[in-house]
Amino acid sequence: MSDAILLQARDLVKQFPVAGTATLLRPARTFTAVDAVSFDLHAGKTLALVGESGSGKSTTARLAARLIDVTSGSVHLDGQDVTTATGAALNEVRRQVQVVFQDPFSSLNPRHTVERIVTAPLRYQKRPMPGGSRAVARTLLDRVGLNPDHYGRYPAQFSGGQAQRIGIARALAVGPRVLVCDEAVSALDVSVQAQIITLLRDLQREEGFGCLFIAHDLAVVRQIATSVAVMTAGRIVEAGDRDEVFGNPRHDYTRKLLAAVPRIRPEWEAARRRRGAVA
Ligand SMILES: Nc1ncnc2c1ncn2[C@@H]1O[C@H](COP(=O)(O)OP(=O)(O)OP(=O)(O)O)[C@@H](O)[C@H]1O
Ligand SMILES: [Mg+2]
Repeated sequence: MSDAILLQARDLVKQFPVAGTATLLRPARTFTAVDAVSFDLHAGKTLALVGESGSGKSTTARLAARLIDVTSGSVHLDGQDVTTATGAALNEVRRQVQVVFQDPFSSLNPRHTVERIVTAPLRYQKRPMPGGSRAVARTLLDRVGLNPDHYGRYPAQFSGGQAQRIGIARALAVGPRVLVCDEAVSALDVSVQAQIITLLRDLQREEGFGCLFIAHDLAVVRQIATSVAVMTAGRIVEAGDRDEVFGNPRHDYTRKLLAAVPRIRPEWEAARRRRGAVA
C-alpha cells in the first residue's frame, strides 16, 4: 500500500542547551534547532529535506529515527509512537528506521570484513533466512553491486562509493520500513552519485521502503525525490510534490535556493518563466 502514511512527524521541536551556567536570575538558555516540523512519509516514496547548512535537517532526521529525543512533538511509525517507545518497542523502531550517513567509513567497523559487517545485524533477526545469515548477506552485497572478491576485504580497501554501497547493504539487511539518507551521496563525485541514486531507486521499488532523503544539492534531489520539504532556521517553510515545489516555488527562500542551482530542469525553468519569474 504505497499511499499509507508510514512515518508521521507532528510539531517536532528540538532545543539544545546553550553553553553557560544557569543561575537563579539567568535561566539556562536554549537554541531551537527544529521548530514545529511536521511531515508525512509514505511507503515507497522519497521525501527530500532540503535547506541551508544548519537549518535543522540532520536534527530532524535524528528525531525521526529516534537517535535523539524530542523536546516536544511526536513521530509515529505505522501508527506506533516512536517518541515514547522504550525497551523492545524502541529496538523495533531502530530496526525499522535505518540511517545512512554522509561518511560511510565512520560507521563501518575498520577491523571487520565486509561480509561480517553485513552479517552482524542479521544474527539478531528472527525472520527466516534461506541459506543462513551469511548467504543473505552475500545476496545483499551482490545486490548493491559488490562481487565475491570483496566479501573478505576491510572497509579501508574500498572507495567511498563502494563503502556507501556496503552501508546501504547493512542498512537494508534488517528489512527497514524507512531508510534515512543524511547527505548519503554528498561526498561522492557526480558519476558515483548517479550510480548510488539509481541503486537506491531500484532497491526502493523492490523493497517498498519510504526514504527520508537529506541533501543540499537540488540537482540530486530532483533525481530521487517524490516530494520536497524546504527547511530554513529549523522550520519547514514550503512542502509539496517535487515538481510543484521546484516548478512553482511559493516561498522566497525556495526561490533563492533554486536560483542558486545552475543545472535545473528545463521544464521547471519554463514554468517559472511563464509565471513571470526573473531567471
Ligand atoms: N548536539 C547539538 N548540540 C547543540 N547544537 C546542535 C546539536 N546538533 C545540532 N545543533 C545545532 O542545530 C542546528 C541544526 O543542525 P543540523 O545538524 O540539524 O543542521 P543541518 O541542516 O543538518 O546542516 P548541514 O547541512 O550543515 O548538515 C545547527 O545550528 C547546529 O549547530
Ligand atoms: Mg546535516
